[in-house]
Amino acid sequence: MKVLILNDPEAAIERAGDIVSGAVRARPRTVLGLATGGTMLPLYDDLVARHDAGLLSFAGATTFNLDEYVGLAPDHPCSYHRYMRQAFFDRVDLDRARTHLPRGDVADPQGEAEDYERRITEAGGIDLQILGIGRNGHIGFNEPTASLGSRTRIKTLTDDTRRANQRYFSSFEETPRYAITIGVATILDARATLLLATGEAKAEAVARMVEGPLSAACPASALQLHPNATIVLDAGAASSLT
Ligand code: F6R
Repeated sequence: MKVLILNDPEAAIERAGDIVSGAVRARPRTVLGLATGGTMLPLYDDLVARHDAGLLSFAGATTFNLDEYVGLAPDHPCSYHRYMRQAFFDRVDLDRARTHLPRGDVADPQGEAEDYERRITEAGGIDLQILGIGRNGHIGFNEPTASLGSRTRIKTLTDDTRRANQRYFSSFEETPRYAITIGVATILDARATLLLATGEAKAEAVARMVEGPLSAACPASALQLHPNATIVLDAGAASSLT
């Protein structure tokens, strides 16, 4: 695990942007694993700025997002499909036919999950998996107790995660209970991973990921097993590291 600690969130985002753009430039047909959430928004802005400045093209890239809420159609205002269109897909030269998210509104979500895992394999696997971290140590929607050998499947969201995501919905009750998420083992299969965390609210989860025991109680700790995992932190997110 390579842990990079930057002074402030802006510097952390720029460093993460350097890593993503370096990977895309080195391999224009790269397969990127993408994440959503508040932490990722400034990273997408950074990548869009590089694209607009003519420094970066995603024209050859393929993308697979980590997760989607079960029950939400792609055009639902709180779906991750919508988030990705607004934050990234509609702002860069990606070929939309090569962008992938699991569909949350299908009759057979488990079948969709298995099919999604197959599509990742058929695309040759993920070259660089971008990740955020939940305050409870989740990556993707692999909540605490998720098997470290898990593959894409349906996961029940913890109340803690639903409370954190409630800000996007009109109430806690309306916040979805289930998501389709790629698994911990699917994440570990990526040739490289890049986890970005900013702010003190993430400090405890970051310390458990980096310094804690390898445990399903903190799914992000599985990254300790990855031979090419980079963690980019600002000072706040790093503040509980010893
Ligand atoms: C969503 C995802 C989640 C988030 C995590 C942090 O695709 O992968 O694991 O990265 O919940 O979310 P924020 O950045 O909103 O704190």
